[in-house]
Amino acid sequence: MAGKRSSTLFAVCRVTVFCIAASFVFLASSWSANGQTHSTAYTAKGQKIFKANCTMCHDDDGTASGPTGKALGAANLTSPAIRKESNEALAHFISAGKGKMPSFQTTLTQQQIADAVQYIRSLGNTGAAHR
Ligand code: HEC
Repeated sequence: MAGKRSSTLFAVCRVTVFCIAASFVFLASSWSANGQTHSTAYTAKGQKIFKANCTMCHDDDGTASGPTGKALGAANLTSPAIRKESNEALAHFISAGKGKMPSFQTTLTQQQIADAVQYIRSLGNTGAAHR
């Protein structure tokens, strides 16, 4: 019995891993279809980090147009003001935090913050394409 249960669990895990892998492949291919030049590998990782840590305030698209983003006055990450900031400045800001923006110094590694910045860059590109 125990053997059967664990093999079912194993199958479920395999399906989950497959789905996650498949959605990354899908996302990566849709980004390159946009003709964007940034690194899709970093962007995929960055998107995962962003979704887990940032979307509650900045929203999936980075515009912070949802109720939490509006209530806290979170920055619109697709804005020209953010796009002209350097990667280093953004990474420093995310690490240090400011006002209602929490510090991620102890939650994320420098590499994870850099990946999140890459993802923010891809949001900026999308914004430009929609203008
Ligand atoms: C609890 C809500 C909250 C979360 C979670 C959050 N932010 Fe913010 N963020 C804010 C607020 C509020 C501001 C505006 C801060 C200010 O200027 O006073 C901000 C500003 C920013 C800015 C603007 C920097 C600048 O130069 O003005 C960046 C970039 C940013 N956040 C990135 C992120 C990233 C990346 C994450 C996830 C790792 C994240 N934020 C998570 C609330 C949040």
